[in-house]
Amino acid sequence: MMLLIAMVRLPPVTTDAMVRLPPDTTDVLVRLQPDPPDRDRGKQIYMRVGCYQCHGREAQGASGTGPRLGPRPIAFAAFSRYIRQPTGQMPPYTSKVVSDQELADMYAFLQSLPQPPAAKSIPLLNN
Ligand code: HEC
Repeated sequence: MMLLIAMVRLPPVTTDAMVRLPPDTTDVLVRLQPDPPDRDRGKQIYMRVGCYQCHGREAQGASGTGPRLGPRPIAFAAFSRYIRQPTGQMPPYTSKVVSDQELADMYAFLQSLPQPPAAKSIPLLNN
């Protein structure tokens, strides 16, 4: 997860208009907007947390271990709900293991996968 964190140092001398803070709390953390979802980061997370072990490296799925996830994943709300609270054999992933930002990155990765070729475009299958 990449968040931009800007350190804002308040002037050491307080004036009448300023709230006086204890000396060690004068660094104020300003959290900016999270990064937009990123497919490359999403792929790394997908591999790191082991989704590929059941759903395949290209999220193509495999019978018996896990269904195909891309390139047209289920709606994001359903996707994140399922990962937090699966109802079948899949293990749950809490936000401590995979943050919401990381879910968005993985979703971007799944959406970016190429479509499988149409069967008609494969000569061998047209004989
Ligand atoms: C241990 C195997 C396993 C792992 C690891 C795993 N899954 Fe699954 N997943 C499954 C199985 C099996 C299903 C089918 C439903 C069920 O039994 O839970 C599933 C279902 C899903 C679904 C619902 C698909 C649908 O069409 O309804 C999503 C989304 C999903 N997994 C995403 C993920 C992601 C993202 C990860 C990594 C964070 C992950 N899974 C890790 C086994 C796994």
